[in-house]
Amino acid sequence: MIKLDKYSYIFIANWKLNGNYSFLKDYYQKLNVNSDNCTIICSPSIYLKSLKGNNANLFCGAQDVSSYKEGAYTGELSASMLKDNNIDFCLVGHSERRQYFAETNNNVSIKSSNLIEENIVPVICIGETLEQKEKNLTEEILSKQIKDSIPKSANHQNALIAYEPVWAIGTGLTPTLEEINQVHKLIKNFDTRFSNFRVLYGGSVKSSNSKEITGLSHVDGCLIGGASLKVNEFNKIIS
Ligand code: PGA
Repeated sequence: MIKLDKYSYIFIANWKLNGNYSFLKDYYQKLNVNSDNCTIICSPSIYLKSLKGNNANLFCGAQDVSSYKEGAYTGELSASMLKDNNIDFCLVGHSERRQYFAETNNNVSIKSSNLIEENIVPVICIGETLEQKEKNLTEEILSKQIKDSIPKSANHQNALIAYEPVWAIGTGLTPTLEEINQVHKLIKNFDTRFSNFRVLYGGSVKSSNSKEITGLSHVDGCLIGGASLKVNEFNKIIS
């Protein structure tokens, strides 16, 4: 299991459904990893192995995993298969999976628990929609997501939480710095068992706002989508 505590910050690139071999080669050549921080590249699964270099502070992450361990489930990849391929991290419950693939809190919890069993760190994503935010339901929604999607086996050494307001993903909109810090504090205070969890922020992070966001007292890193596809931009964020 990766020693998460030794890193100042954790930065995750979520490439989503983007990339190909030439993109990957160029990206990897230009990527400039800072050894104080943990940098994780979540490429599409088929490219995961080709990223594995020798840099001790650079890791591969999958974007999803099956909730099943084995059997007749066409198209799925299990947590043990990811481990077999030296994958150390896996996003779980990203809002795009919840929205387009009907992923529930219960699925997220099962997937996270299977990953932890395989010594893979689940990055458990939670966040409210704009409608929920406007109805002042953020706290209620996050509490339910935390309660129902984080398995009992998760702790600050084997799992990460990513707060990604759905309305901030890919939109260029972000909550205010105060709001981000407040929500992260709320997550850590939800239960004493979460107080030492590393909580990452995701949603329209770019080099122009990443310093301010990571400077917040309750933010331990960022999950970056669009801006992570431009390696020079991503280098600025992780530097
Ligand atoms: P974004 O995506 O940085 O493009 O907003 C973040 C994410 O989806 O994880």
